[in-house]
Amino acid sequence: MIQPTTRLSFREWLPDDWLRFKPIANDPRVVRYVLAGTVPTDEQIRGHIEAARRLYLEEGFCLWPLIYRANQELIGFCGLDHLWGGPEIEIGYWLAHDYWGRGLATEAAQAVIAYGLRKLKLQRIVAVAHPDNRASLRVLDKLGMTFERLVVHENIEHVLYSKSRFPQPGVK
Ligand SMILES: CC(C)(COP(=O)(O)OP(=O)(O)OC[C@H]1O[C@@H](n2cnc3c(N)ncnc32)[C@H](O)[C@@H]1OP(=O)(O)O)[C@@H](O)C(=O)NCCC(=O)NCCS
Repeated sequence: MIQPTTRLSFREWLPDDWLRFKPIANDPRVVRYVLAGTVPTDEQIRGHIEAARRLYLEEGFCLWPLIYRANQELIGFCGLDHLWGGPEIEIGYWLAHDYWGRGLATEAAQAVIAYGLRKLKLQRIVAVAHPDNRASLRVLDKLGMTFERLVVHENIEHVLYSKSRFPQPGVK
C-alpha cells in the first residue's frame, strides 16, 4: 500500500465505504466534468467500488479511498485504473468539495505517481480531463505531467497528459 503523505493516507476499500463515498459522488460540483456530469446511482457507486477492490487484488493498484489524517474521514479517492478499460494506466482523483483548494489532490497524486513509476515499475501513467476542468488540468501541470493530445471518448473531448518512467528501456 502507498505510504501516508503529510495530510493523507490510503487504504483498501471497506464494504460499507460506498456510504462514505456517496455524498461526494452525489455532489453535482464533483461530477460536473466527469461521468458526463450526471451523479451516479447507489448501484453504480457500489459497482465502481467493487471493481476497485477486485483490481487491487488482481493487479496491486486501484483508485484508493483517500483518508484525511487529521479527522480520519474518507474525503475522496486517488489512484490508478485502466483508462477506459484498455491497457493504458491512468491516474484519477476526486475530492469532497469541502477539501478543494488546499493542495490535497496534488499531494495525493504525487504519492500515487511515485508508487506507480517506482514501486509498480509502470513505464507510463496517463491522465485525462475535460478541457474545461481547470482545477484538474492545473493539478496535472503541478505534477509535471506533459500534454500529449486531445482525444474523444464516447463523444466527449478529453485532454490527455502523460508521465513516463526514466530512463526508458533502450534510451540512455
Ligand atoms: C480536481 C480536484 C481533484 C482538485 O483538487 P484540489 O485538492 O482542489 O487540487 P489542488 O489544490 O491540489 O490544486 C488545484 C489547483 O487548481 C487551481 N484551480 C482551481 N480551480 C480553478 C479554476 N476554476 N481555474 C483555474 N485554476 C483553478 C487551484 O488554484 C490550484 O492551483 P494552485 O496550487 O496553483 O493555486 C477537485 O477539484 C475535484 O475533486 N474535482 C471534482 C472531480 C474531478 O473533476 N476530478 C478530476 C477528473 S479529471
